[in-house]
Amino acid sequence: MESIFERQMRQSYSKGSTIAVGCNQWGDTGKGAIVDRFMHIADICVRSMGADNCGHTMHVNGMKYVSHMIPSGILFDSKGIVSVIARDVALNPLTARLELAEFTKAGITCNNLKISFRAKLILPYHILFDMLSESKSGKAKKIGTTGRGVGPVFQDYIARVGLTVGDMLDEGVMYQKLYHVLRDRIAFLKTLDIGMVREVMQHERLENGLFFHSKHILDIDAIVERYREHGEFFRDMICDTEAYLKSQLGTATIVFEGAQGLLLDINQGSYPFVTSSRCSVAGIANGAGLREKNITDPLGVVKAYVTRVGEGAFPTEIGGYDAVSTYKTQWHDKLVDVPLVEQINDSNEVIQGGAIGMIGGEVGATTGRSRRVGWLDLVALRHAIGINGSQIVITKLDVLTGIKKIPVCTEYCYEGKDNPAIPLHTGQFLDEMIPENEILKHCRPIYTYLDGWDEDISNVRSWTDLPENAQKYLSLIEELSGAKIVMIGVGPEREQVFFT
Ligand code: GDP
Ligand code: IMO
Ligand code: MG
Repeated sequence: MESIFERQMRQSYSKGSTIAVGCNQWGDTGKGAIVDRFMHIADICVRSMGADNCGHTMHVNGMKYVSHMIPSGILFDSKGIVSVIARDVALNPLTARLELAEFTKAGITCNNLKISFRAKLILPYHILFDMLSESKSGKAKKIGTTGRGVGPVFQDYIARVGLTVGDMLDEGVMYQKLYHVLRDRIAFLKTLDIGMVREVMQHERLENGLFFHSKHILDIDAIVERYREHGEFFRDMICDTEAYLKSQLGTATIVFEGAQGLLLDINQGSYPFVTSSRCSVAGIANGAGLREKNITDPLGVVKAYVTRVGEGAFPTEIGGYDAVSTYKTQWHDKLVDVPLVEQINDSNEVIQGGAIGMIGGEVGATTGRSRRVGWLDLVALRHAIGINGSQIVITKLDVLTGIKKIPVCTEYCYEGKDNPAIPLHTGQFLDEMIPENEILKHCRPIYTYLDGWDEDISNVRSWTDLPENAQKYLSLIEELSGAKIVMIGVGPEREQVFFT
Protein backbone atom coordinates (compact mmCIF):
# COMPACT_ATOMS: atom_id res chain seq x y z
CA MET A 1 0.00 0.00 0.00
CA GLU A 2 1.14 3.53 -0.79
CA SER A 3 2.40 5.44 2.28
CA ILE A 4 1.46 9.06 3.01
CA PHE A 5 4.91 10.11 1.84
CA GLU A 6 4.56 8.16 -1.40
CA ARG A 7 1.14 9.66 -2.07
CA GLN A 8 2.53 13.13 -1.45
CA MET A 9 5.34 12.39 -3.85
CA ARG A 10 2.94 11.27 -6.56
CA GLN A 11 0.90 14.43 -6.04
CA SER A 12 3.95 16.72 -6.05
CA TYR A 13 5.58 15.36 -9.21
CA SER A 14 3.33 14.78 -12.18
CA LYS A 15 3.88 12.02 -14.73
CA GLY A 16 6.61 13.08 -17.13
CA SER A 17 8.57 15.03 -14.50
CA THR A 18 12.34 15.03 -14.82
CA ILE A 19 13.92 15.23 -11.39
CA ALA A 20 17.66 15.82 -10.97
CA VAL A 21 19.03 14.81 -7.59
CA GLY A 22 22.25 16.81 -7.38
CA CYS A 23 24.42 17.59 -4.37
CA ASN A 24 25.25 21.04 -3.05
CA GLN A 25 28.27 20.07 -0.99
CA TRP A 26 31.40 17.89 -1.37
CA GLY A 27 29.44 14.69 -2.06
CA ASP A 28 28.13 11.96 0.25
CA THR A 29 25.05 13.90 1.23
CA GLY A 30 22.73 10.91 0.86
CA LYS A 31 21.84 11.23 -2.84
CA GLY A 32 21.45 7.47 -3.11
CA ALA A 33 18.86 7.40 -0.33
CA ILE A 34 16.88 10.25 -1.91
CA VAL A 35 17.03 8.76 -5.41
CA ASP A 36 15.84 5.49 -3.92
CA ARG A 37 12.81 7.33 -2.52
CA PHE A 38 12.00 8.80 -5.91
CA MET A 39 11.91 5.35 -7.47
CA HIS A 40 8.36 5.12 -6.18
CA ILE A 41 7.24 7.34 -9.06
CA ALA A 42 10.08 6.84 -11.55
CA ASP A 43 10.10 5.03 -14.86
CA ILE A 44 13.77 5.63 -15.58
CA CYS A 45 16.80 6.22 -13.34
CA VAL A 46 19.80 7.85 -15.03
CA ARG A 47 23.43 8.22 -14.02
CA SER A 48 24.91 10.79 -16.39
CA MET A 49 28.27 11.80 -14.92
CA GLY A 50 30.99 10.59 -12.58
CA ALA A 51 32.40 7.09 -12.49
CA ASP A 52 33.00 4.42 -9.87
CA ASN A 53 34.43 7.13 -7.63
CA CYS A 54 30.87 7.43 -6.27
CA GLY A 55 29.47 5.39 -3.44
CA HIS A 56 25.71 5.70 -2.99
CA THR A 57 24.11 3.91 -0.06
CA MET A 58 20.54 2.65 0.23
CA HIS A 59 19.14 1.09 3.40
CA VAL A 60 16.05 -1.00 2.81
CA ASN A 61 14.43 -3.15 5.50
CA GLY A 62 17.68 -3.48 7.40
CA MET A 63 19.67 -4.38 4.25
CA LYS A 64 22.41 -2.06 3.02
CA TYR A 65 23.15 -1.70 -0.69
CA VAL A 66 25.99 0.42 -2.09
CA SER A 67 26.22 1.34 -5.75
CA HIS A 68 29.28 2.80 -7.43
CA MET A 69 28.70 2.33 -11.14
CA ILE A 70 25.13 1.13 -11.53
CA PRO A 71 22.22 3.57 -11.05
CA SER A 72 20.51 3.10 -7.69
CA GLY A 73 17.25 2.49 -9.54
CA ILE A 74 18.49 -1.04 -10.20
CA LEU A 75 16.88 -2.01 -6.87
CA PHE A 76 13.56 -1.55 -8.69
CA ASP A 77 14.54 -3.40 -11.85
CA SER A 78 11.95 -6.10 -11.29
CA LYS A 79 9.27 -3.38 -11.24
CA GLY A 80 10.32 -2.41 -14.76
CA ILE A 81 12.35 0.71 -13.94
CA VAL A 82 14.96 1.25 -16.63
CA SER A 83 18.46 2.12 -15.37
CA VAL A 84 20.59 4.19 -17.72
CA ILE A 85 24.33 4.89 -17.69
CA ALA A 86 24.54 7.89 -19.96
CA ARG A 87 27.18 9.58 -22.08
CA ASP A 88 29.27 11.56 -19.58
CA VAL A 89 29.80 8.67 -17.20
CA ALA A 90 33.20 7.03 -17.26
CA LEU A 91 32.45 3.32 -17.12
CA ASN A 92 34.71 0.90 -15.33
CA PRO A 93 33.37 -2.34 -16.82
CA LEU A 94 34.96 -4.49 -14.13
CA THR A 95 33.35 -2.53 -11.28
CA ALA A 96 30.03 -2.58 -13.12
CA ARG A 97 30.18 -6.36 -13.58
CA LEU A 98 31.21 -7.02 -9.99
CA GLU A 99 28.41 -4.79 -8.80
CA LEU A 100 25.83 -6.46 -11.02
CA ALA A 101 27.00 -9.82 -9.67
CA GLU A 102 26.55 -8.53 -6.09
CA PHE A 103 23.06 -7.27 -6.83
CA THR A 104 22.14 -10.54 -8.51
CA LYS A 105 23.45 -12.44 -5.49
CA ALA A 106 21.22 -10.30 -3.30
CA GLY A 107 18.22 -11.36 -5.40
CA ILE A 108 17.94 -8.18 -7.44
CA THR A 109 17.22 -8.57 -11.13
CA CYS A 110 19.32 -6.57 -13.58
CA ASN A 111 17.33 -6.87 -16.80
CA ASN A 112 16.71 -3.24 -17.68
CA LEU A 113 20.14 -1.63 -17.79
CA LYS A 114 21.09 0.53 -20.76
CA ILE A 115 24.61 1.87 -21.28
CA SER A 116 25.52 4.66 -23.69
CA PHE A 117 27.87 3.60 -26.47
CA ARG A 118 29.43 7.04 -25.97
CA ALA A 119 30.17 6.65 -22.24
CA LYS A 120 33.87 7.02 -21.55
CA LEU A 121 35.83 3.86 -20.97
CA ILE A 122 38.10 3.53 -17.94
CA LEU A 123 41.09 1.43 -18.90
CA PRO A 124 43.73 -0.14 -16.64
CA TYR A 125 46.33 2.50 -17.47
CA HIS A 126 43.97 5.27 -16.26
CA ILE A 127 43.82 3.60 -12.87
CA LEU A 128 47.58 3.05 -12.92
CA PHE A 129 48.33 6.69 -13.74
CA ASP A 130 45.89 7.91 -11.09
CA MET A 131 47.52 5.72 -8.46
CA LEU A 132 51.05 6.66 -9.55
CA SER A 133 50.34 10.35 -9.63
CA GLU A 134 48.79 10.31 -6.17
CA SER A 135 51.64 8.28 -4.69
CA LYS A 136 54.29 10.50 -6.29
CA SER A 137 52.69 13.78 -5.26
CA GLY A 138 53.70 15.06 -1.87
CA LYS A 139 50.99 15.91 0.66
CA ALA A 140 50.74 19.46 -0.71
CA LYS A 141 50.05 18.37 -4.30
CA LYS A 142 47.98 15.27 -3.67
CA ILE A 143 44.28 15.59 -4.55
CA GLY A 144 43.30 12.62 -2.43
CA THR A 145 41.51 10.97 -5.36
CA THR A 146 39.63 7.71 -5.11
CA GLY A 147 42.28 6.06 -7.32
CA ARG A 148 39.68 4.96 -9.86
CA GLY A 149 41.39 6.56 -12.88
CA VAL A 150 38.91 9.41 -13.11
CA GLY A 151 41.36 12.26 -13.83
CA PRO A 152 43.27 10.30 -16.51
CA VAL A 153 40.14 9.02 -18.32
CA PHE A 154 38.70 12.52 -18.68
CA GLN A 155 42.16 13.85 -19.60
CA ASP A 156 42.15 11.43 -22.55
CA TYR A 157 38.63 12.45 -23.48
CA ILE A 158 39.48 16.16 -23.52
CA ALA A 159 42.68 15.38 -25.46
CA ARG A 160 40.41 13.59 -27.96
CA VAL A 161 42.19 10.26 -27.70
CA GLY A 162 39.82 8.50 -25.30
CA LEU A 163 38.04 5.22 -25.93
CA THR A 164 34.32 4.87 -25.42
CA VAL A 165 32.11 1.98 -24.36
CA GLY A 166 31.10 1.23 -27.96
CA ASP A 167 34.76 0.57 -28.81
CA MET A 168 34.64 -2.58 -26.68
CA LEU A 169 32.51 -4.13 -29.40
CA ASP A 170 35.25 -3.83 -32.03
CA GLU A 171 38.56 -5.45 -31.20
CA GLY A 172 40.32 -3.86 -34.19
CA VAL A 173 39.25 -0.32 -33.28
CA MET A 174 40.17 -0.92 -29.68
CA TYR A 175 43.65 -2.13 -30.59
CA GLN A 176 44.27 0.76 -32.98
CA LYS A 177 43.15 3.44 -30.53
CA LEU A 178 45.02 1.88 -27.64
CA TYR A 179 48.21 1.51 -29.64
CA HIS A 180 48.01 5.19 -30.57
CA VAL A 181 47.36 6.43 -27.04
CA LEU A 182 49.72 4.08 -25.22
CA ARG A 183 52.90 4.78 -27.16
CA ASP A 184 53.71 7.92 -25.14
CA ARG A 185 52.43 6.46 -21.90
CA ILE A 186 54.64 3.39 -22.18
CA ALA A 187 57.66 5.57 -22.98
CA PHE A 188 56.91 7.55 -19.83
CA LEU A 189 56.41 4.45 -17.69
CA LYS A 190 59.82 3.19 -18.83
CA THR A 191 61.44 6.22 -17.19
CA LEU A 192 60.08 5.12 -13.81
CA ASP A 193 61.23 2.44 -11.40
CA ILE A 194 59.78 -0.63 -13.13
CA GLY A 195 59.70 -2.64 -9.90
CA MET A 196 57.54 0.02 -8.31
CA VAL A 197 55.20 0.17 -11.33
CA ARG A 198 54.93 -3.60 -11.32
CA GLU A 199 54.01 -3.54 -7.65
CA VAL A 200 51.29 -0.94 -8.19
CA MET A 201 49.92 -3.09 -11.01
CA GLN A 202 49.44 -5.98 -8.61
CA HIS A 203 46.50 -4.05 -7.12
CA GLU A 204 43.17 -5.85 -7.32
CA ARG A 205 41.69 -2.89 -9.22
CA LEU A 206 44.29 -3.76 -11.87
CA GLU A 207 43.36 -7.41 -11.66
CA ASN A 208 46.48 -8.44 -9.76
CA GLY A 209 49.04 -7.81 -12.47
CA LEU A 210 46.97 -9.12 -15.42
CA PHE A 211 48.00 -6.17 -17.59
CA PHE A 212 51.71 -6.05 -16.70
CA HIS A 213 54.16 -6.85 -19.50
CA SER A 214 57.79 -7.40 -18.56
CA LYS A 215 59.06 -5.63 -21.70
CA HIS A 216 56.39 -3.09 -22.59
CA ILE A 217 55.04 -2.65 -19.04
CA LEU A 218 51.47 -2.39 -20.35
CA ASP A 219 50.25 -5.48 -22.14
CA ILE A 220 48.02 -4.15 -24.93
CA ASP A 221 46.95 -7.64 -26.01
CA ALA A 222 45.83 -8.50 -22.49
CA ILE A 223 43.89 -5.24 -22.21
CA VAL A 224 42.17 -5.75 -25.58
CA GLU A 225 41.28 -9.33 -24.74
CA ARG A 226 39.84 -8.44 -21.33
CA TYR A 227 37.85 -5.50 -22.72
CA ARG A 228 36.61 -7.55 -25.68
CA GLU A 229 35.24 -9.95 -23.13
CA HIS A 230 33.67 -7.09 -21.14
CA GLY A 231 32.14 -5.89 -24.43
CA GLU A 232 30.57 -9.32 -24.97
CA PHE A 233 29.08 -9.18 -21.48
CA PHE A 234 27.56 -5.74 -22.03
CA ARG A 235 26.72 -6.11 -25.76
CA ASP A 236 22.94 -6.19 -25.36
CA MET A 237 22.92 -3.26 -22.93
CA ILE A 238 24.99 -0.88 -25.06
CA CYS A 239 22.86 1.52 -27.08
CA ASP A 240 22.17 5.16 -27.92
CA THR A 241 20.86 6.31 -24.54
CA GLU A 242 20.62 9.92 -25.69
CA ALA A 243 18.10 9.02 -28.36
CA TYR A 244 16.27 6.81 -25.87
CA LEU A 245 16.03 9.52 -23.20
CA LYS A 246 14.92 12.17 -25.70
CA SER A 247 12.17 9.82 -26.86
CA GLN A 248 10.96 9.44 -23.27
CA LEU A 249 10.91 13.14 -22.35
CA GLY A 250 7.47 14.38 -21.40
CA THR A 251 5.94 10.96 -20.97
CA ALA A 252 8.20 8.99 -18.65
CA THR A 253 9.13 10.19 -15.16
CA ILE A 254 12.91 10.35 -15.20
CA VAL A 255 15.07 10.63 -12.11
CA PHE A 256 18.68 11.69 -12.61
CA GLU A 257 21.05 10.47 -9.94
CA GLY A 258 23.82 13.04 -9.53
CA ALA A 259 27.29 12.01 -8.45
CA GLN A 260 29.86 13.81 -6.31
CA GLY A 261 28.76 17.38 -5.51
CA LEU A 262 28.76 20.95 -6.74
CA LEU A 263 31.83 21.81 -4.65
CA LEU A 264 33.70 18.99 -6.42
CA ASP A 265 32.57 20.15 -9.89
CA ILE A 266 35.48 20.69 -12.28
CA ASN A 267 34.25 24.21 -13.11
CA GLN A 268 32.24 25.30 -10.08
CA GLY A 269 34.09 23.48 -7.30
CA SER A 270 37.10 24.20 -5.10
CA TYR A 271 39.62 23.82 -7.92
CA PRO A 272 42.03 22.03 -8.17
CA PHE A 273 40.78 19.78 -5.34
CA VAL A 274 37.82 18.62 -7.39
CA THR A 275 36.83 15.69 -9.53
CA SER A 276 36.94 15.81 -13.34
CA SER A 277 33.19 15.82 -14.00
CA ARG A 278 30.53 18.47 -14.19
CA CYS A 279 28.50 17.77 -11.06
CA SER A 280 25.99 20.62 -11.37
CA VAL A 281 22.38 20.08 -12.38
CA ALA A 282 23.34 21.49 -15.81
CA GLY A 283 26.15 18.92 -15.97
CA ILE A 284 23.73 16.17 -15.02
CA ALA A 285 21.34 17.16 -17.83
CA ASN A 286 24.05 17.69 -20.43
CA GLY A 287 25.75 14.46 -19.44
CA ALA A 288 22.63 12.64 -20.54
CA GLY A 289 22.54 14.58 -23.81
CA LEU A 290 19.75 16.89 -22.59
CA ARG A 291 19.34 20.58 -21.84
CA GLU A 292 19.19 21.96 -18.31
CA LYS A 293 15.75 23.22 -19.30
CA ASN A 294 14.65 19.61 -19.74
CA ILE A 295 14.89 19.20 -15.95
CA THR A 296 11.55 20.11 -14.41
CA ASP A 297 12.68 19.64 -10.80
CA PRO A 298 16.31 20.40 -9.96
CA LEU A 299 17.15 19.38 -6.39
CA GLY A 300 20.33 19.85 -4.40
CA VAL A 301 20.92 17.51 -1.50
CA VAL A 302 22.45 19.18 1.56
CA LYS A 303 23.64 17.36 4.63
CA ALA A 304 22.73 19.14 7.90
CA TYR A 305 26.48 19.49 8.44
CA VAL A 306 29.30 19.08 5.90
CA THR A 307 31.79 16.35 5.07
CA ARG A 308 34.70 16.17 2.68
CA VAL A 309 36.86 13.22 1.63
CA GLY A 310 40.33 13.80 0.22
CA GLU A 311 42.42 16.94 0.30
CA GLY A 312 41.50 20.59 -0.15
CA ALA A 313 40.45 23.59 1.90
CA PHE A 314 37.49 23.08 4.21
CA PRO A 315 36.76 26.31 6.09
CA THR A 316 34.24 24.89 8.57
CA GLU A 317 36.15 21.69 9.36
CA ILE A 318 35.65 20.97 13.06
CA GLY A 319 38.97 20.84 14.89
CA GLY A 320 41.06 21.85 11.88
CA TYR A 321 42.73 19.85 9.12
CA ASP A 322 41.99 16.15 9.26
CA ALA A 323 40.73 16.29 12.84
CA VAL A 324 38.69 13.15 12.25
CA SER A 325 41.81 11.10 11.50
CA THR A 326 43.42 12.48 14.66
CA TYR A 327 40.30 11.53 16.60
CA LYS A 328 40.43 7.98 15.25
CA THR A 329 44.12 7.51 15.97
CA GLN A 330 44.44 9.40 19.26
CA TRP A 331 41.07 9.63 20.97
CA HIS A 332 38.65 6.98 19.84
CA ASP A 333 40.09 4.13 21.90
CA LYS A 334 40.60 6.29 24.98
CA LEU A 335 36.98 7.42 24.88
CA VAL A 336 35.20 4.12 24.25
CA ASP A 337 33.42 4.42 27.61
CA VAL A 338 32.31 8.00 27.03
CA PRO A 339 28.92 8.12 25.28
CA LEU A 340 29.04 9.83 21.87
CA VAL A 341 26.31 12.26 22.99
CA GLU A 342 28.78 13.58 25.55
CA GLN A 343 31.65 13.63 23.09
CA ILE A 344 29.73 15.77 20.60
CA ASN A 345 29.67 18.52 23.22
CA ASP A 346 33.35 18.22 24.16
CA SER A 347 35.23 21.51 24.23
CA ASN A 348 38.05 19.79 22.32
CA GLU A 349 36.87 20.17 18.74
CA VAL A 350 38.88 17.17 17.56
CA ILE A 351 36.76 15.02 19.85
CA GLN A 352 33.55 16.85 18.97
CA GLY A 353 34.05 16.54 15.19
CA GLY A 354 35.27 12.97 15.43
CA ALA A 355 32.22 11.99 17.46
CA ILE A 356 29.82 13.65 15.00
CA GLY A 357 31.53 11.63 12.25
CA MET A 358 31.02 8.47 14.29
CA ILE A 359 27.32 9.16 14.83
CA GLY A 360 26.90 10.03 11.15
CA GLY A 361 28.82 6.91 10.04
CA GLU A 362 31.10 9.17 8.03
CA VAL A 363 33.28 6.61 6.36
CA GLY A 364 33.65 6.75 2.58
CA ALA A 365 31.38 4.24 0.81
CA THR A 366 33.99 3.86 -1.96
CA THR A 367 37.39 4.07 -0.34
CA GLY A 368 36.62 3.41 3.32
CA ARG A 369 38.46 6.64 4.23
CA SER A 370 37.20 8.68 7.19
CA ARG A 371 35.30 11.70 5.98
CA ARG A 372 36.41 15.06 7.34
CA VAL A 373 33.54 16.69 9.26
CA GLY A 374 32.51 20.35 9.43
CA TRP A 375 29.66 22.66 10.42
CA LEU A 376 27.03 23.70 7.93
CA ASP A 377 28.45 26.34 5.60
CA LEU A 378 25.86 28.77 4.22
CA VAL A 379 28.52 30.67 2.26
CA ALA A 380 29.19 27.52 0.25
CA LEU A 381 25.48 26.76 0.05
CA ARG A 382 24.72 30.19 -1.46
CA HIS A 383 27.30 29.47 -4.15
CA ALA A 384 25.78 26.05 -4.82
CA ILE A 385 22.16 27.12 -5.03
CA GLY A 386 23.18 29.99 -7.28
CA ILE A 387 24.06 27.26 -9.78
CA ASN A 388 21.78 24.35 -8.92
CA GLY A 389 18.65 26.28 -7.99
CA SER A 390 16.93 26.89 -4.69
CA GLN A 391 15.10 23.59 -4.07
CA ILE A 392 17.05 21.58 -1.52
CA VAL A 393 16.74 18.39 0.48
CA ILE A 394 18.22 18.33 3.98
CA THR A 395 19.58 14.96 5.09
CA LYS A 396 21.07 13.62 8.31
CA LEU A 397 19.36 16.16 10.55
CA ASP A 398 19.16 13.37 13.15
CA VAL A 399 22.95 13.32 13.47
CA LEU A 400 22.95 16.77 15.12
CA THR A 401 20.60 15.67 17.91
CA GLY A 402 22.14 16.30 21.32
CA ILE A 403 24.56 19.08 20.33
CA LYS A 404 23.92 21.93 22.77
CA LYS A 405 25.11 24.79 20.56
CA ILE A 406 25.19 24.31 16.81
CA PRO A 407 27.44 26.70 14.88
CA VAL A 408 26.32 27.71 11.38
CA CYS A 409 28.78 29.53 9.14
CA THR A 410 27.11 32.65 7.76
CA GLU A 411 30.12 34.42 6.20
CA TYR A 412 33.86 34.10 5.70
CA CYS A 413 36.56 36.55 6.63
CA TYR A 414 39.28 36.43 3.98
CA GLU A 415 42.67 36.50 5.65
CA GLY A 416 45.00 35.90 2.70
CA LYS A 417 47.06 38.41 0.74
CA ASP A 418 45.32 41.17 -1.17
CA ASN A 419 44.28 39.84 -4.55
CA PRO A 420 43.84 42.66 -7.06
CA ALA A 421 42.50 40.37 -9.80
CA ILE A 422 39.19 39.66 -8.04
CA PRO A 423 39.61 42.16 -6.25
CA LEU A 424 39.87 40.89 -2.69
CA HIS A 425 41.64 42.37 0.30
CA THR A 426 42.74 41.03 3.64
CA GLY A 427 40.00 41.30 6.23
CA GLN A 428 37.20 41.38 3.64
CA PHE A 429 33.99 39.55 4.50
CA LEU A 430 32.51 37.18 1.91
CA ASP A 431 28.93 35.98 1.87
CA GLU A 432 29.37 33.75 -1.18
CA MET A 433 32.13 31.23 -1.71
CA ILE A 434 34.85 31.93 -4.27
CA PRO A 435 35.53 28.32 -5.15
CA GLU A 436 39.30 28.47 -5.60
CA ASN A 437 41.37 26.50 -3.15
CA GLU A 438 44.01 29.23 -2.90
CA ILE A 439 41.34 31.65 -1.67
CA LEU A 440 39.27 29.19 0.30
CA LYS A 441 42.20 28.08 2.41
CA HIS A 442 42.52 31.65 3.72
CA CYS A 443 38.84 31.98 4.61
CA ARG A 444 37.95 31.97 8.30
CA PRO A 445 34.34 31.01 9.00
CA ILE A 446 32.16 33.41 10.98
CA TYR A 447 29.57 31.51 12.98
CA THR A 448 26.12 32.12 14.37
CA TYR A 449 25.32 29.75 17.25
CA LEU A 450 21.92 28.12 17.56
CA ASP A 451 20.50 26.17 20.47
CA GLY A 452 20.23 22.48 19.69
CA TRP A 453 17.63 19.85 20.59
CA ASP A 454 17.77 16.61 22.58
CA GLU A 455 14.66 14.84 21.32
CA ASP A 456 15.12 11.75 19.16
CA ILE A 457 13.83 12.84 15.74
CA SER A 458 14.37 9.60 13.86
CA ASN A 459 10.64 8.84 13.92
CA VAL A 460 9.49 12.35 13.03
CA ARG A 461 7.65 12.52 9.70
CA SER A 462 6.51 16.14 9.51
CA TRP A 463 7.91 19.62 9.97
CA THR A 464 5.48 20.42 12.78
CA ASP A 465 6.62 17.38 14.79
CA LEU A 466 10.25 18.53 14.72
CA PRO A 467 11.53 20.12 17.95
CA GLU A 468 11.28 23.89 17.85
CA ASN A 469 15.05 24.34 17.77
CA ALA A 470 15.36 21.96 14.82
CA GLN A 471 12.73 24.04 13.01
CA LYS A 472 14.72 27.18 13.84
CA TYR A 473 17.88 25.58 12.45
CA LEU A 474 16.12 24.74 9.18
CA SER A 475 14.40 28.13 8.97
CA LEU A 476 17.74 29.86 9.38
CA ILE A 477 19.13 27.86 6.47
CA GLU A 478 16.24 28.97 4.28
CA GLU A 479 16.36 32.55 5.44
CA LEU A 480 20.10 33.08 5.06
CA SER A 481 20.69 31.07 1.89
CA GLY A 482 17.52 31.68 -0.11
CA ALA A 483 16.94 27.93 -0.34
CA LYS A 484 13.57 26.20 -0.11
CA ILE A 485 13.71 22.92 1.80
CA VAL A 486 11.40 20.41 0.14
CA MET A 487 12.33 17.21 1.93
CA ILE A 488 14.08 16.23 5.16
CA GLY A 489 15.95 13.04 6.05
CA VAL A 490 16.11 11.90 9.67
CA GLY A 491 17.73 8.49 9.27
CA PRO A 492 19.26 6.18 6.66
CA GLU A 493 16.22 3.94 6.16
CA ARG A 494 13.92 4.31 3.18
CA GLU A 495 11.03 5.50 5.37
CA GLN A 496 13.03 8.16 7.22
CA VAL A 497 12.39 10.97 4.74
CA PHE A 498 9.45 13.38 4.67
CA PHE A 499 8.16 16.37 2.74
CA THR A 500 8.13 19.76 4.45
P1 GDP B 1 25.77 9.74 -1.51
O1 GDP B 1 27.12 9.48 -2.08
O2 GDP B 1 25.36 11.16 -1.62
O3 GDP B 1 24.72 8.81 -2.04
O4 GDP B 1 25.89 9.45 0.04
P2 GDP B 1 26.62 8.20 0.74
O5 GDP B 1 25.79 7.00 0.57
O6 GDP B 1 28.04 8.13 0.31
O7 GDP B 1 26.65 8.69 2.24
C1 GDP B 1 25.49 9.02 2.93
C2 GDP B 1 25.40 8.14 4.18
O8 GDP B 1 24.41 8.65 5.05
C3 GDP B 1 24.96 6.73 3.87
O9 GDP B 1 25.53 5.85 4.80
C4 GDP B 1 23.43 6.79 4.05
O10 GDP B 1 22.89 5.53 4.41
C5 GDP B 1 23.34 7.73 5.20
N1 GDP B 1 22.12 8.56 5.24
C6 GDP B 1 21.41 9.09 4.21
N2 GDP B 1 20.42 9.88 4.67
C7 GDP B 1 20.51 9.86 6.03
C8 GDP B 1 19.81 10.51 7.08
O11 GDP B 1 18.89 11.31 6.88
N3 GDP B 1 20.22 10.25 8.37
C9 GDP B 1 21.25 9.39 8.64
N4 GDP B 1 21.61 9.20 9.91
N5 GDP B 1 21.95 8.78 7.67
C10 GDP B 1 21.59 9.02 6.38
P1 IMO C 1 29.56 10.46 -4.21
O1 IMO C 1 28.83 10.35 -5.51
C1 IMO C 1 32.81 12.36 -2.01
C2 IMO C 1 36.46 13.25 -4.23
C3 IMO C 1 37.70 12.46 -3.86
C4 IMO C 1 38.77 13.50 -4.12
C5 IMO C 1 38.24 14.22 -5.36
C6 IMO C 1 38.84 13.73 -6.67
O2 IMO C 1 29.58 9.21 -3.41
O3 IMO C 1 29.11 11.65 -3.44
P2 IMO C 1 38.48 11.51 -8.10
O4 IMO C 1 38.70 10.07 -7.75
O5 IMO C 1 37.09 11.83 -8.52
O6 IMO C 1 39.50 12.02 -9.08
O7 IMO C 1 38.78 12.32 -6.73
O8 IMO C 1 36.84 13.99 -5.39
N1 IMO C 1 35.28 12.42 -4.60
C7 IMO C 1 34.23 12.25 -3.80
N2 IMO C 1 34.00 12.69 -2.53
N3 IMO C 1 31.86 11.68 -2.67
C8 IMO C 1 32.06 11.26 -3.94
O9 IMO C 1 31.10 10.67 -4.66
C9 IMO C 1 33.30 11.51 -4.55
N4 IMO C 1 33.82 11.24 -5.76
C10 IMO C 1 35.03 11.81 -5.78
O10 IMO C 1 37.67 12.05 -2.52
O11 IMO C 1 38.79 14.43 -3.08
MG1 MG D 1 28.96 8.70 -1.50
